[in-house]
Amino acid sequence: MELTDKVALVTGGSGDIGAAICEALAAEGCDVALTYVGNVDGANATVTAVTAHGRRAHPIALDQRDECSIDAAAAAVIEHFGRCDILINNAAWNIGIPFPQLDRLDADTWDRVLETNLRGPFLLSRALAPTLAEDGGGRIVNIASVGGLNPGSSSIAYSCSKAGLIHLTHCLAVALAPDISVNCVAPGLVEGTRMALRLPDAVAAGARRQAVLGKVGSAVDIAAATVLLCRADTITGQTIVVDGGMPGAMNFG
Ligand SMILES: NC(=O)c1ccc[n+]([C@@H]2O[C@H](COP(=O)([O-])OP(=O)(O)OC[C@H]3O[C@@H](n4cnc5c(N)ncnc54)[C@H](OP(=O)(O)O)[C@@H]3O)[C@@H](O)[C@H]2O)c1
Repeated sequence: MELTDKVALVTGGSGDIGAAICEALAAEGCDVALTYVGNVDGANATVTAVTAHGRRAHPIALDQRDECSIDAAAAAVIEHFGRCDILINNAAWNIGIPFPQLDRLDADTWDRVLETNLRGPFLLSRALAPTLAEDGGGRIVNIASVGGLNPGSSSIAYSCSKAGLIHLTHCLAVALAPDISVNCVAPGLVEGTRMALRLPDAVAAGARRQAVLGKVGSAVDIAAATVLLCRADTITGQTIVVDGGMPGAMNFG
């Protein structure tokens, strides 16, 4: 699909990876609506980056734990741009709780992670599906994690939320075909990001050890994979891993 003049909604566009995705889509010619919760400075910086590419940007406040906020954000995109062709479910929340410390993973934390990382993307996809399908070439890209493919990440709740998001990708790919493709990018550790800083040290060290390329994932490569999945006309239900290696690989170097 040619991306010039398409409209994309990128959730979490105020964050590290979301900003890179917004900028990459703008470079391809998309106008971009981007969401944030409280990080107004981050959202404004992304707006500046998008407009530097000569495209329009529209920041929208969204707490995707709240269904009303989701419906309002979907309506705001349509009201501002008159259409929406691409949804990037990138927003998420994590907290570092080592897997063996089961008692620290209380019900409220579990709910916050699952509501943000799994229920939110479902509700957003549901709210925008009719609009995305209008021209028969809609795109959804979910940003998951290698923690959704293997049991190892910031917490058990996060790992389960991302496993759920990967399977949601499969389910929606079937449900929304043929008008909307639904794919997934699964990043590994991205150094220096807010989320990476919340990882238990042993998990970050393990991610570096498994990166057979000698470097972990980068926001630029995650954004490039996202753009690829938006451009592609014959890919759906797939997950691209961006982690400097292979899930489960051992590094002999
Ligand atoms: N960074 C990594 O190492 C890594 C590794 C694997 C996967 N990922 C995935 O990549 C994606 C982006 O991560 P990142 O590193 O860019 O994270 P980040 O910098 O922490 O950004 C997270 C984004 O999500 C938003 N957000 C948080 N809670 C929300 C809620 N309840 N409702 C709506 N938005 C909410 C944040 O808004 P505010 O900025 O306003 O708070 C921010 O825009 C996530 O899906 C993450 O799971 C990241």
